[in-house]
Amino acid sequence: MLYLKDIDASGKKVLIRVDYNVPLDGTRVTDDTRIRESLPTLRHILASGGAAVICCHLGQPKGEVKPEFSLAPVAAHLAGLLGVSVPLAGDCVGADVKAKISALASGEVLMLENLRFHKAETSKDAAERMAFAKELVAGLDLYVSDAFGVSHRPNASVTEAPLAAPKACAGFLMEKEWRYLNGAFSDPKRPFVAISGGSKVSSKLGILKNLLGKVDHLIIGGAMANTFRLAQGIEMGDSLVERELLDDARSIMAAAADAGTHIHLPVDFVLAGSFKDSAAAVPSHTGAVPAGLMALDVGPKSVEVFAQVLKGAGTVVWNGPMGAFENPAFAAGSIGVAKAIVASGALSIVGGGDTDAVVHAAHLGEKFSFISTGGGSFLEFLEGKELPGFKALEDAAKQ
Ligand code: 3PG
Repeated sequence: MLYLKDIDASGKKVLIRVDYNVPLDGTRVTDDTRIRESLPTLRHILASGGAAVICCHLGQPKGEVKPEFSLAPVAAHLAGLLGVSVPLAGDCVGADVKAKISALASGEVLMLENLRFHKAETSKDAAERMAFAKELVAGLDLYVSDAFGVSHRPNASVTEAPLAAPKACAGFLMEKEWRYLNGAFSDPKRPFVAISGGSKVSSKLGILKNLLGKVDHLIIGGAMANTFRLAQGIEMGDSLVERELLDDARSIMAAAADAGTHIHLPVDFVLAGSFKDSAAAVPSHTGAVPAGLMALDVGPKSVEVFAQVLKGAGTVVWNGPMGAFENPAFAAGSIGVAKAIVASGALSIVGGGDTDAVVHAAHLGEKFSFISTGGGSFLEFLEGKELPGFKALEDAAKQ
């Protein structure tokens, strides 16, 4: 694929696909990480004498114009960060929008309204998506993608627009995501340790299977570890388990041994009667969970075991918390693991909404090598799937 750093944007009208699908509280952006991460690309284009036309989606309005999904709050927030005016067009295609684009001067910015107000953006019909993409790129000289967060979606602005545009390349954020994620898997500094947490084995089966043989160590925490411990014959009391996946858990453990990946499971837990019952949280030293109690976090001995595995690691990729960290009574395991990753000095990559939240809650954001802006796209990458947003940029480069 082509990269923005190798392209002269001066005098060009540039369509930039970003992922500003950010959380809002009314009209207030409550987490602007994705917006901030796109600023280097926007600033570069403006400083090199280009004009920036920004397009993105917000939520899932499913092809209807719904005011609550307007990008107006996002445009206002971006203007504050960028220090230039960011007018919002009334739509993302159509004669009025094209007139605004044609009147744009170098160094100016225009934000287009929510792409998903049009059904064609997310249509399953590739021809319909291509027709929409052609409208979108009309009057523009260059397409730049900085939308890693949506690169797993076959949406017109992600997969067809790069091919419809006169030229297409990856922006700085997209390039950074690619270099860290692809670099970790194609040429990892070893030992390579993956940490997988979260509540459900079912949603992580693809990731666990893909990691076997690629990583040297696989640490499993969170409620998904309960299913693995039960599969080993350990009593898990009233803990969340997926009984229908006990055989899958056993076959993953057997396949890991064959593939040369060492799996590490929690050896103790923090227990309580329920998620809300934090006052009664007790450690379980034996690793077994009595009836009436649930495992809601990994215990201190587990954090020590995991820290030993992490010591000396060359590369660490982490997705999914170790416990129900939203309740401070069950956050120590996730925070302990975050600290152990930082202490290891390894190249550390984190992704997925909940995991980012742990890292930020522990005030360790700056200490990690890379925090991905992807949620679903990060998970699909870990599953070993080809992300259509990258494939489109590669195909566009061959045209
Ligand atoms: C995200 O926030 O994960 C991306 O923007 C994709 O959004 P979607 O799940 O609504 O397609």
